[in-house]
Amino acid sequence: MSQTSDRRTGPSTARRSAYDHARKVGNRADVWKHCCLLRVVEHLLAGHPPGATFRYGETHSGAGELVLGETGEWRQGVGALDSVPDALAPHPYFRLVDVPVAPGTRYLGSWRLVERHLADQGIEHQIRLCDTSTAVSNLVWEYTVHQPSPTIVFRQLDGFADIKKHPGQHLLFIDPPFKPARHDWRRAGEATELLRERGESYLAWYPIYWPTEPTRLTNAARAPAFELHWAPMGKRPDRALKGCGMLAGGDAAPGLEAAQGELEALAELLGGRLEIRQPG
Ligand SMILES: C[S@@+](CC[C@H](N)C(=O)[O-])C[C@H]1O[C@@H](n2cnc3c(N)ncnc32)[C@H](O)[C@@H]1O
Repeated sequence: MSQTSDRRTGPSTARRSAYDHARKVGNRADVWKHCCLLRVVEHLLAGHPPGATFRYGETHSGAGELVLGETGEWRQGVGALDSVPDALAPHPYFRLVDVPVAPGTRYLGSWRLVERHLADQGIEHQIRLCDTSTAVSNLVWEYTVHQPSPTIVFRQLDGFADIKKHPGQHLLFIDPPFKPARHDWRRAGEATELLRERGESYLAWYPIYWPTEPTRLTNAARAPAFELHWAPMGKRPDRALKGCGMLAGGDAAPGLEAAQGELEALAELLGGRLEIRQPG
């Protein structure tokens, strides 16, 4: 498998991207997003023509692999899982992620999990990745440079802009840092409207501080979102993260709708509860 990696730096976008996922790797939100993502990939593969190439894209890819440190939010996420309940044992995430984990474990990010899952199923695939970070670009380049065939393309670019130029993924994952938050909420909304018009399947992750933005996003996208809530909303907005959601557009939605029991078990395992936000 080879992959091409474009190391050109887009100076304006690179400067804007000061987000570092290292502190958050493997946290509850990561486990939720990666479980939802793999469940949807598996669902889409069930209807995928045999032998056809599966095209997968990520607008905000991250490095694809980070090492769990001594401390970090992973201790409340993947680090809190001692074993996998029977209801979740067949889940593709738990076929790829061994628990319990310890400091020093390499935790695979979204696209590496998808890549592994597709490879394990023997599915031909093409993966298109964007990220504005130079550090991410270097890490992806290190991973892809040793691979023999062109299945992964990485571009150090604004992932939202890339959606307009590269239609036609079987699944697109949008995972912005929400820093600055207002900017990413607005662009996520525009992206999901475009994807809906094009009739494409996508997942978009978002943080939950207060229901206003998730409600606006699901309504604009006319698609349901599958949320993990781990803290009460409280009486007024504040800066504490209460949970996260995965908006599921196109054929991604039935994949998560069918997995409701599994998502409930996962939410409980992560110390929260499932809430499905339907578009109004
Ligand atoms: C939440 S992390 C991605 C995590 C990854 N999807 C995973 O689950 O393993 C968000 C990433 O977006 C990148 N980023 C920030 N602004 C961006 C933009 N406009 N376009 C593409 N990537 C961006 C950051 O450098 C960071 O690596």
